[in-house]
Amino acid sequence: MKAPEVQAETQQFVKRLTEDNCAFWRDRDVRLDPGAPREVLERQLRYRMRQGVYNELRAAELIAAWIPSVREREIRELLPRQLDDEQRHYQLLRRRLRELGDDPDGYEALPEWEALFDWLVTARSRPTIEKLAMFQFAGETQSCEGFETLIRLAEPIDPETARLYRTQILPDEYRHAAIGRHALLLLADTPERRAQAAAACREMNARVFQAYAAHRRRADHGG
Ligand SMILES: [Fe+2]
Ligand SMILES: [Fe+2]
Repeated sequence: MKAPEVQAETQQFVKRLTEDNCAFWRDRDVRLDPGAPREVLERQLRYRMRQGVYNELRAAELIAAWIPSVREREIRELLPRQLDDEQRHYQLLRRRLRELGDDPDGYEALPEWEALFDWLVTARSRPTIEKLAMFQFAGETQSCEGFETLIRLAEPIDPETARLYRTQILPDEYRHAAIGRHALLLLADTPERRAQAAAACREMNARVFQAYAAHRRRADHGG
């Protein structure tokens, strides 16, 4: 059991880091343009789903790669369920695209997304606090925000897809983000570890932003 003052400091740190990440992401998720005409938005949504199939599959792969190196039992035991969720999201999105007449398997993933996941897989050798700060805490918190926007914009265009995201995917993603928060509350108990976690978030945010910008450029050119 940690001393109450250490616990309080850790909580303060996690709160501040959450605010910093949130400030970084203000107006930076450029994947969808809420002001775009309906046909442009429709194309952006479809492109987002195609890339989403790839991202969910890679998320499952990445968690599988990380599990053996996560020694902290309280964290490790949460990861198999996350792996299972990401695999299910992959199947749900793939099935929905096929229902819409799309060919999810014919889609070639964007190199920037591929590079991001390759980098995350190799991060398996980094300390648990860094890994979980990157993917679950920074990445999945931002992706919940992104899904909220996607659902709001998809509602009038494709309510069935919006419902799928809202009921079958988003609740799981909030749970994944909570795993990241839980890991930091448990592990960020010294100034050194806090510095490590904050640097890992900055690294992740910068890389994800690059992928988002590339994503939008390609979506605008027909996906
Ligand atoms: Fe997912
Ligand atoms: Fe997730």
